[in-house]
Amino acid sequence: MIISRVRGLVCAASLMAAFFCSSVPAAEPAPEAHYGVVPLPDNTMNHDPGIAIKGKNEFYPSRAGTDGRHVTPNDFEPVVLCSGCHMEIYTQWKGSMHSDSWTDPVYRSALHLMSEFSHGKIDNFCMGCHTPIGVVSREATPEGKNMSDAAVEGVQCEVCHNISRTSGVGNGSYVLTPKLHGRPLKFGPYKDAVSPIHDTAYSKLHTQSELCSDCHDVTHPFNKVPIERTYTEWRDSPYNGEGIQCQDCHMKPVPGRASPIGKDRDRVYTHYFVGGNALVTQLLGSDKHPAKAEEMLKSAATVQIIAPPTLSANHTNPVTIRVRNVGAGHKLPTGFPEGREMWLDFKVVDAHGRQVYRLGAVKDGKTEPGTQNFKVWLGDKDGKVVDLNVLDADRVLRDTRIPPRGFQDVTYEFDLPKDVVGPLKLVADLNYWSFSQALLDHLMGKEAPRAHITLMTSATAQVQLSDHMTTSTAQADLAALAARADQ
Ligand code: HEC
Ligand code: HEC
Ligand code: HEC
Ligand code: HEC
Ligand code: HEC
Repeated sequence: MIISRVRGLVCAASLMAAFFCSSVPAAEPAPEAHYGVVPLPDNTMNHDPGIAIKGKNEFYPSRAGTDGRHVTPNDFEPVVLCSGCHMEIYTQWKGSMHSDSWTDPVYRSALHLMSEFSHGKIDNFCMGCHTPIGVVSREATPEGKNMSDAAVEGVQCEVCHNISRTSGVGNGSYVLTPKLHGRPLKFGPYKDAVSPIHDTAYSKLHTQSELCSDCHDVTHPFNKVPIERTYTEWRDSPYNGEGIQCQDCHMKPVPGRASPIGKDRDRVYTHYFVGGNALVTQLLGSDKHPAKAEEMLKSAATVQIIAPPTLSANHTNPVTIRVRNVGAGHKLPTGFPEGREMWLDFKVVDAHGRQVYRLGAVKDGKTEPGTQNFKVWLGDKDGKVVDLNVLDADRVLRDTRIPPRGFQDVTYEFDLPKDVVGPLKLVADLNYWSFSQALLDHLMGKEAPRAHITLMTSATAQVQLSDHMTTSTAQADLAALAARADQ
């Protein structure tokens, strides 16, 4: 702008005018209009159907793929071979839910039931994520007879490091390419990795949540009801905007070496893949993973009690509890909807140590009715809750889980006995289990293990007794306190 104005001045005022003015190109005469069709490549992005298409996906109703290549279990190298040069990574993975994804007894009981309900129609769907090699080499069956080690080892090294691309989000949308040019090839995060025994390829996918998305979004394969949405929950969260991937929390990197014969590196990603499951990893004999799962759960949430200044035996008392998801990059809890449940166990204890109110105890293997819990409920076509047979799922009835970096306030209203003695102690325990005892019993009968409850965090507060307040003043106080409580 400025230059052109200066030029304009120069143009008008100096002898150079002729030069400058004449150097402005004269407008070319407009070509005669011949409007036509301009060819464009497809700019819609590929539409992702989210589910397998019959006749198109070879392992329907799973979206697993091999780009049409015929593969056998022998195309995948044994995990013990990898352990020879990647021992640390191997011991981290071994005992994780990934290494247990086929042998997991809770999974196998569920698979059995679903296979029966569906007369086998669902088998490949479930197995596509729980034994990818078993499915692409066509040897997996729900009974699991005569399956190769490669398949039994579930989500193992050769599954993730043979993923050459993804064909969409969820329902097993990985493409496995175990060998290329007749040599074993491992897709990984390094641009300069050299191994004496396999080719390597830099794969950006492996550094992103999209790798995990292949299996961590589950959609009903026939009616598209969302069953698990861990990846999508993360995608829509602030963590995505900040570039924090699943790998950053579930494979926390440390400096070191990927192999004793490899280079020194600033970031070697660990392979524990710990989530919330402290039960199955312990059942299958890991001593490290259950403790790490508990740590993970304890880092996920905070609890804050917002109580009026005094409570009274003369009126109904309101107390609010704020639960905040501070550590999970997706909803809290996320994943397997039939099982995962987080809940508040809220107690009021008087000065004599007598429990005068409680809501959130476990009764008959479940959280008692009225418990403030954080969970998703799927419904069937009549709107009835689906406990286990996700094939019947037709809708999401209710979802009280806490979004990433979000919080939820729940309010209790309770009466105190006349002879209560102040001051009162309020205790809010935040608990989690991967499965209720009732679900385990239903699935596994006599074989069912004891359910495992993790106390994630807890808050306490002391409140005086007083008769000067009514329910409505207490409620008004509480609303003001809640508004002021730390956001
Ligand atoms: C004889 C030793 C040896 C064996 C056996 C071995 N690797 Fe490697 N691998 C290496 C070395 C060395 C590197 C390079 C490490 C570095 O550069 O930091 C490597 C790198 C890798 C990488 C990173 C590739 C990249 O480009 O980011 C992956 C993934 C990998 N190996 C997977 C496997 C798997 C899976 C197995 C088992 C099937 C296996 N390796 C067996 C030695 C081995
Ligand atoms: C669930 C998928 C998954 C499984 C199973 C898995 N890996 Fe990895 N691995 C990854 C991802 C993802 C990365 C890269 C993380 C990043 O850089 O963000 C990685 C990185 C690596 C690397 C490069 C060094 C590092 O740790 O960053 C090696 C070597 C490797 N894996 C070997 C193995 C071996 C051996 C096994 C089996 C014992 C195995 N992986 C199992 C997903 C997996
Ligand atoms: C090929 C499918 C597949 C891929 C790819 C995959 N997962 Fe998983 N993942 C599973 C399955 C199946 C389970 C549950 C296993 C079971 O039932 O025991 C699981 C379990 C987990 C758990 C444990 C959950 C719990 O309840 O404790 C975590 C954490 C996890 N995956 C993280 C990841 C991350 C991070 C990635 C990407 C780097 C990833 N997964 C990639 C299939 C996969
Ligand atoms: C900011 C850290 C963070 C990020 C990012 C993150 N997670 Fe998690 N994840 C957690 C924590 C903490 C827990 C334990 C609390 C819980 O169960 O939700 C967890 C739990 C899980 C579980 C067990 C679910 C349950 O409730 O039993 C799975 C599966 C999982 N994450 C997978 C993923 C995948 C896949 C991604 C990426 C799409 C991801 N996570 C991103 C922190 C994270
Ligand atoms: C798209 C991949 C995918 C498909 C398809 C799938 N699952 Fe899973 N499944 C997972 C992942 C990922 C988890 C772990 C989520 C979490 O930790 O909450 C899981 C967890 C489970 C669990 C809980 C295991 C445990 O010990 O915590 C059971 C049981 C289960 N699946 C059964 C099934 C059955 C039965 C089917 C078929 C109807 C099926 N799954 C289909 C990916 C899949």
